[in-house]
Amino acid sequence: MIDYTERIPNNVDLGRDRVLQRALEHWQPGYLNWWYETGPRDTSALEVYLRTATSVEPDGWAQFGYVRMPEYRWGIFLQPRDEIRAINFGVRKGQPAWQEVPGELRSALRRIIVTQGDTEPASVEQQKMLGMSSPSLYDLRNIFQVNVEEGRHLWAMVYLLHRYFGRDGREEAEALLERRSGDADNPRILGAFNEPTPDWLAFFMFTFFTDRDGKFQLCALAESGFDPLARTCRFMLTEEAHHMFVGETGVGRIIQRTCEVMKEDKIDDPSDVRAMGVIDLQTIQRYLNFHYSVTLDLYGSDVSSNAANYYTSGLKGRYEETKIGDDHLLSDAEYPVSEVIGNKIVSKNVPALTALNERLRDDYIHEIEAGLRRWNRIIESAGIPFRLDLPHKGFHRQIGNFAGHYISPQGEVLSQEAWKKREFEWLASPQDHAYVQSLMSGPVVEPGKFANWIAPPRRGINNQPLNFQYVRFN
Ligand SMILES: [Fe+2]
Ligand SMILES: [Fe+2]
Repeated sequence: MIDYTERIPNNVDLGRDRVLQRALEHWQPGYLNWWYETGPRDTSALEVYLRTATSVEPDGWAQFGYVRMPEYRWGIFLQPRDEIRAINFGVRKGQPAWQEVPGELRSALRRIIVTQGDTEPASVEQQKMLGMSSPSLYDLRNIFQVNVEEGRHLWAMVYLLHRYFGRDGREEAEALLERRSGDADNPRILGAFNEPTPDWLAFFMFTFFTDRDGKFQLCALAESGFDPLARTCRFMLTEEAHHMFVGETGVGRIIQRTCEVMKEDKIDDPSDVRAMGVIDLQTIQRYLNFHYSVTLDLYGSDVSSNAANYYTSGLKGRYEETKIGDDHLLSDAEYPVSEVIGNKIVSKNVPALTALNERLRDDYIHEIEAGLRRWNRIIESAGIPFRLDLPHKGFHRQIGNFAGHYISPQGEVLSQEAWKKREFEWLASPQDHAYVQSLMSGPVVEPGKFANWIAPPRRGINNQPLNFQYVRFN
């Protein structure tokens, strides 16, 4: 169970390590300042129906109740230790998992933790304005839930930095509060986390596509030979599932509402659809193309010696490593990666060890495809002859073998000029953004009411009705 009587709730027996406890208590006010400055805007007085972790056991870890957000109990929760856990891959396979950081892996491990940690506050910063235009109290509560949990994920990484990396770790923990999403001088580390999230369609796409990158990275780190990192990530994953649920159902509800209107009014021209105050499927496709492509970049270069080193040394595994039936060393294995040669995209085999980024990206794509099929089923059951598609993997990429090439969503290699000419067929234009934002001018705050452009969810949170007061305004 988690001790909430402590200033920093935790299940790591923080009180036993006074130096660490003081260091984290020193970091805490900086964290709260960060939350007030860059967290959800104008929310200090709100009471939000949030879940708070009470234990890390899979059953019944969440307790629901009204919380003023700055009083949310951010804390440090690790899955309990498995005493006989071993390293499951790489050259140290079979040795006991590390409880302390091996000296020679220190800087690589710190870099992994900082890079993961940096994404957590970034998404809160990206979403800070969205409460002002929420389509319902239900959705308002959900975005706040996501925000407080991303804040907790920052705590999770900061605990590891403070506990295991001494002074360097404390400096990194400070820097995590100093970088800002989209800041020209001191941006967040990864590209997708510096993109704006200007409206709720972008938010739902982000939580579907980009939080799912989070899931796959956490799954790979949950295999880590560094046991405290693995245990931290396992608990973070239980929270991540809800973020992706918010994204998938959010986009699904927008699609559903659009389809209802199209069917009722027998319209299919995007301008007629917009005239009814809902988001045309073509615009949804363009948002999808953007969020999918910038998220694919997060996996890094197709061929990467860093990825190989992380694996060989036991720091970062594959998705579902222990369920894979091979040698977990990848000494002779190969894996296909794409390359652009002339005006053709070709596939070539490279040592699997160097292609681990690409492999994780492919695992991710596989799960994305399943989500897309569920969205398409909504369109199909409305009898509308339109399908959402995933663009080609090479479309709109900035990192890896496709960077610097101009690939259409269909996978043709184009000239820069030809690609630019069609850019706004494929990606949302300033006009598309202006239209979507015009629908979201103010929050819908009446319990049970939903903005015209989105269907209500199938059920409420924690079995509450849809007209429940998910947020109280005082
Ligand atoms: Fe997170
Ligand atoms: Fe998340």
